[in-house]
Amino acid sequence: MAQEHTNPTGHERIETSNFLMIMLILVTIAIGGLVEIVPLYFQRSTTEPVPGLKPYGALQLVGRDIYLREGCYNCHSQMIRPLHAETLRYGHYSVAGEFVYDRPFQWGSKRTGPDLHRVGGKYSDEWQRLHLAGPRDLVPESNMPAYPWLEHAQVDAASVPPRLKAMQRLGVPYSDAEVAASAAALQGKTEMDALVAYLQSLGTQLK
Ligand code: HEC
Repeated sequence: MAQEHTNPTGHERIETSNFLMIMLILVTIAIGGLVEIVPLYFQRSTTEPVPGLKPYGALQLVGRDIYLREGCYNCHSQMIRPLHAETLRYGHYSVAGEFVYDRPFQWGSKRTGPDLHRVGGKYSDEWQRLHLAGPRDLVPESNMPAYPWLEHAQVDAASVPPRLKAMQRLGVPYSDAEVAASAAALQGKTEMDALVAYLQSLGTQLK
C-alpha cells in the first residue's frame, strides 16, 4: 500500500523534529525546575537566619577556609537529615536558617567519616588538636588523614580583613569595627587554632 505523504501534524510533528523535541524538553525541565526552586527564595524558613544566629568570628572564618582547602568536605557532611537514626546519633536535624551566612555551604555529599554539623562542643579543644594531628592516636581504627602541619602554620593575619569585607558585601552582618580589629585579633594564631575554633562553633547556635 502506498504511504501517504502528508506533512506531519500535532505530536508527530514534534517527534519527527530533533530541534522541536529538544527545545520542548528544555522548556518542560525549566518550568519544573523553576516551580521547585523559585519559592525557596521567598520562604522565611530558608532565607531568614534562625533567631540569634551570629556570623563566624574572624578566627572561625579562617578555620572554615582551611576546612575547604584541606578538602574535609570530601569525607564529612554537615547536614543532619530529619531521620530518627540520624537525630539519635548527631542531634537535632539541620535547618536552613543555620546556613544563611555559609558561603558556600558545606553540606557535602559523602560520609566516609561522621557528619560534623553538630560536632561543636562534643569534644574538648585539646581532643580536636590531638585528633587532627594524629587521628589514630585517639581512634586506632580511623582512616582519616593526619594534619600535623596545621600546628606550625601561622595564619596570615593581613589577609583576614579583606575576607571579612568580602563576606560583608555578600550580606553577612559584620560591623566595620569588627573588620578593622580582625587582623590584630589573629596575630600569632596557628591554622590549628583557627580550624579548631571553626569546628567548635559548628551547629551550636540552634536554640
Ligand atoms: C579520608 C576521609 C577523611 C578526611 C579527608 C577527613 N576526615 Fe575527619 N574523619 C574521618 C573518619 C573515618 C572519622 C571517624 C574516625 C575518627 O574519629 O578518626 C573522622 C572523624 C572526624 C572527627 C570526629 C567526629 C566525631 O563526631 O567523632 C572530626 C572532628 C573530623 N573528622 C574532622 C575533620 C577535619 C577538620 C578534616 C579536614 C582537615 C577531616 N576530618 C578530614 C575521615 C576523614
